[in-house]
Amino acid sequence: KFRPKTLFIGQKINYLPTCQSTNDVAADLIASETALDGAVVITGNQTAGRGQRGNQWEAQPNQNLTFSVILQPTFLQASEQFWLNIAISLGISDWLATYVGDRLKIKWPNDLYVLQRKIGGILIENTLYGYTIAWSVVGIGLNINQTRFQTPTATSLSNETPNDLDFVLPELFPSLLESLERRYLALRAGQRDVLKTNYLQRLFRYQEESEFRADGKHFRGIIVGVEETGRLAIQVGDKLRSFAFKEVEFVIDGD
Ligand code: BTN
Repeated sequence: KFRPKTLFIGQKINYLPTCQSTNDVAADLIASETALDGAVVITGNQTAGRGQRGNQWEAQPNQNLTFSVILQPTFLQASEQFWLNIAISLGISDWLATYVGDRLKIKWPNDLYVLQRKIGGILIENTLYGYTIAWSVVGIGLNINQTRFQTPTATSLSNETPNDLDFVLPELFPSLLESLERRYLALRAGQRDVLKTNYLQRLFRYQEESEFRADGKHFRGIIVGVEETGRLAIQVGDKLRSFAFKEVEFVIDGD
């Protein structure tokens, strides 16, 4: 009943009632050579979830989706890793947008926002083989039924939709995996133009003036694009500057 209509993503689902981090469980499957392309590790209670920039990822037990998808994007060069971030963030955002509409934004590089509030995050960890990507662990955390938040800048799906009912996680999951696979297959088929266009259409504060911080200094600028490598291009006065992920941060009220 809960099997997704996909070719490979989610055809094998490893459910763990509790674990430290689904990304680590997935990495262990790869290391022990028992991983399959498209296999999913999902837990109801992740006790040591990891986020980007070394952050922790907290989730209310059994209220949110915390899972990892194992992929073999051997068609991507190591230098093309960012294309995976684009495809995955689009796959999730397509699905979220069916609930929240175009309030859904992708905050560079791959945070999922509803207007100004974060609803989910992605942590992709790749294993390289020479110049190609042998394995990818795509970790995804989505706030679904959570009602109380540590920060005012977080939200959840139930918080953003009109009904007061809790979502039933196993019923939600197949369509999410189908959305992910659709965008992943588009990437594999080389449809990069569409992916890039759609990514920019959803990009948080694209072509709007925003405040940033880099090297401890604040400045205002306008996001004008994202480079192939994933670097963010910002127009600052009459200069075009570009930043890698760890080099720049948005300064958002309340963050
Ligand atoms: C971020 O926004 O910083 C990324 C958060 C990624 C969280 C997910 S939850 C499932 C998977 N396992 C982890 O330990 N992290 C990712």
